[in-house]
Amino acid sequence: MKVDGLTFIVTGGASGLGKEVARTLVSQGAFVSIFDINVDSSRNIASELGEDRCFVAGSVNVTVEADVAHAIAKTLEHFSSKKLGGVIISSGIVTPPATITGYGPDQVLTSYAQFEHVIGVNLLGAYCVAQKVSEILLKNNPFNKDGERGIIITVSSILGLDGLFVGYGTSKAGLTGLTLPLAKELSSFGIRVMSIAPGVFDTPIVDRSNKNAPIALFPRRLGEPTEFADLVLRVIDTPMLNGSVIRLDGALHV
Ligand SMILES: NC(=O)c1ccc[n+]([C@@H]2O[C@H](COP(=O)([O-])OP(=O)(O)OC[C@H]3O[C@@H](n4cnc5c(N)ncnc54)[C@H](O)[C@@H]3O)[C@@H](O)[C@H]2O)c1
Repeated sequence: MKVDGLTFIVTGGASGLGKEVARTLVSQGAFVSIFDINVDSSRNIASELGEDRCFVAGSVNVTVEADVAHAIAKTLEHFSSKKLGGVIISSGIVTPPATITGYGPDQVLTSYAQFEHVIGVNLLGAYCVAQKVSEILLKNNPFNKDGERGIIITVSSILGLDGLFVGYGTSKAGLTGLTLPLAKELSSFGIRVMSIAPGVFDTPIVDRSNKNAPIALFPRRLGEPTEFADLVLRVIDTPMLNGSVIRLDGALHV
């Protein structure tokens, strides 16, 4: 599937990996709509990319169905002459807000409130977006001879595959687990589902003050968001990639 001329929704597009995906898609002729709770940063990226190419419907919390439904409707209205090609679900959190304390391996076992919060944003929020976007994609006329009608890409994590952090790791394992069943259910409509599981990438979500943080074995550095965005483009462009999880981690296992 070529991205040129299609619209893509990027959740978490105000920062980090999602922001770089938005830039890369626009550089390849696509139109993007950013779904993020950080509306100021979303508007900054829209100004950078040009408001004719990058749309911000306002603040969109992926865990609120009404927000997501409203933002999808506004996106379709804004880019009314374009087809929606898919979504890259890059919204996510590692730690809950400061009001929810005691999170993580150095504290007592993750509380139910913490667990619920991180599962809510990373897993339920992702499914909320995937389910609502699917309803639009399946109405597309096929884009090519394979009959492709769109793509859903989630951003999981090697922590979900290797098993680290009760809340975060479980939420990301949920995303990797979602990939194949969702791909099977959407296959008859020509909609592909893929997940990318990054290692450690240089974005604001990573605690750079932690000198003991794991790092890729080779190349011996943090991943660049541009490397992630390039892979997203390859995944969209490769019809046979469907229902699987790609590690992007420089051989790092945690
Ligand atoms: N950076 C890494 O090393 C790394 C590694 C593995 C997985 N990931 C995953 O990649 C994704 C992107 O992470 P990043 O590194 O770009 O982090 P980031 O913090 O730079 O970006 C995350 C974005 O998600 C948004 N967001 C948070 N909660 C939201 C909500 N409820 N609704 C809408 N938007 C919300 C934030 O405002 C932010 O703009 C996340 O799912 C993260 O778990 C990142």
